Amino acid sequence: MLSVSGLSKTFPGVRALDGVDFTARAGEVHALIGENGAGKSTLIKVLTGVYEPDAGDLTYDGSPVRFATPLEAQHAGISTIYQEVNLVPLMSVARNLFLGREPRGRLGLIDFGRMHREAEEALRGLGVRVDVRRPLRELGLGAQQMVALARAVSVDARVVVMDEPTSSLEPREVQTLFGVIRMLRERGIAVIYVSHRLDELYEVCDAVTVLRDGKVVHTGALAELDRLRLVALMLGREIQDVQEEGLTQFTGAHEATTEPVLQAEELTARHRLHGVSVTIRPGEVVGLGGLLGSGRSETAKAIAGALPTDSGTVAIGGTRIRTGSTPAAIRAGISLLPEDRKAEGIVPGLSVRDNIALAALPRLSRLGLVNERSIDEVVDTFIDRLHIKASSPLQKVGELSGGNQQKVLLARWLAMHPKVLLLDEPTRGIDIGAKAEVQALVDELAADGLGVLLISSDMEELIEGSDRVIVLKDGTAVAELTGTAVTEENLLRAMAADPAEPGA
Ligand SMILES: Nc1ncnc2c1ncn2[C@@H]1O[C@H](COP(=O)(O)OP(=O)(O)OP(=O)(O)O)[C@@H](O)[C@H]1O
Ligand SMILES: [Mg+2]
Repeated sequence: MLSVSGLSKTFPGVRALDGVDFTARAGEVHALIGENGAGKSTLIKVLTGVYEPDAGDLTYDGSPVRFATPLEAQHAGISTIYQEVNLVPLMSVARNLFLGREPRGRLGLIDFGRMHREAEEALRGLGVRVDVRRPLRELGLGAQQMVALARAVSVDARVVVMDEPTSSLEPREVQTLFGVIRMLRERGIAVIYVSHRLDELYEVCDAVTVLRDGKVVHTGALAELDRLRLVALMLGREIQDVQEEGLTQFTGAHEATTEPVLQAEELTARHRLHGVSVTIRPGEVVGLGGLLGSGRSETAKAIAGALPTDSGTVAIGGTRIRTGSTPAAIRAGISLLPEDRKAEGIVPGLSVRDNIALAALPRLSRLGLVNERSIDEVVDTFIDRLHIKASSPLQKVGELSGGNQQKVLLARWLAMHPKVLLLDEPTRGIDIGAKAEVQALVDELAADGLGVLLISSDMEELIEGSDRVIVLKDGTAVAELTGTAVTEENLLRAMAADPAEPGA
């Protein structure tokens, strides 16, 4: 259906794609995998007319093509969900769904009634119930991703491209997405699927192409490759090494001392949190479990002063701090890695170095003088440990691949030397090699006495990474699991439980 040969694309200082051959067949779900910065998004952007290739040929449905713009590709029947949600946050959900192809009445005016009805229907089909008249930005990231999905499948496409479609989705939504993908496959549509979650690939993909440093290192049927070989290919390492090191670096079970480093009591915020309490001791990693909208991110934000609370208290090392104030929280030693990094963190126009040093600057300065050398040291350490792929520390963050941008933000908050670290989906979009390194870092910090609150939709990460998990539902803590009780089964049961039920 869609194929390329000899495709190359160079950015200043990087060969993002180097002689790539790739074929997506009708009725096939094709996984595209590789480390952060391997060239996946670039390949997709060349396929869909966002970038012009330096060399190479595109064939679509048997004839040579070249798309000058994404719109051209879309009109030709290639529908894309890009890694960065590229919808319009201020416009309504319905408008976003129909952008550029709004149903119109006789006078050429948008038929809002019909648009709203059809939007509602399309989303209901995906199990999403929202007021489609509301601005898109009022939805959580996961729901926004579902809107992008609804948009992509509601057009009459022959190729559907998905760049990390599940990064913000809950298990239930992921299953909905897979249902949609299977339906597309049955209709003979070619699906190209990018994800760092390997379990997902095996659940839904037929073929796989592995990219490393802009080159195709393997392509073939997925069923013929086991997980270990896949990871080895991706990282360019020997299978045996991967096997010995394991894929997750969490060692779990930290020696927690008695005095809590964080004590948040009865946090309440209208409609969102109803008396949530969290206690973390130095050296402990406490997980927050729950479905989308259960109040996990809100809890982290309330602790970090980024969500106004109606009542409740936060204390660090036994000292109460002012709630609802981010500066007060930061001064007290609380760092929050937010869920929506695009909106709440990354400064695309600044360099990798400045983005990392941004928050730690006061600590790295003496008497108002910035110590450039110590900044360079900190920056170099994190670039090295997190494998941040950049042409130099001075490269603009906006030019990095999605996963590498995430790593830069993570580095910023780690460089603060906080007492309490709140991590909202810390490894989302991060490849499996770097993920292990992030987990190892968190483990190390915990062993050093830092208290960590971990939010993750990745069950495996939550279970292996947490000493204890508090499960939230509808803004209320419904269960707390400790030690060996932290299992997938128990978590799922608690997440689905009715908070009104006694003993849930
Ligand atoms: N606009 C740009 N300007 C400069 N360099 C770029 C640009 N876009 C991508 N690159 C570089 O090209 C390489 C490939 O990036 P790409 O976004 O394709 O990676 P990816 O495989 O999608 O990674 P991830 O898993 O992190 O999303 C990276 O080294 C990246 O820094
Ligand atoms: Mg990418």
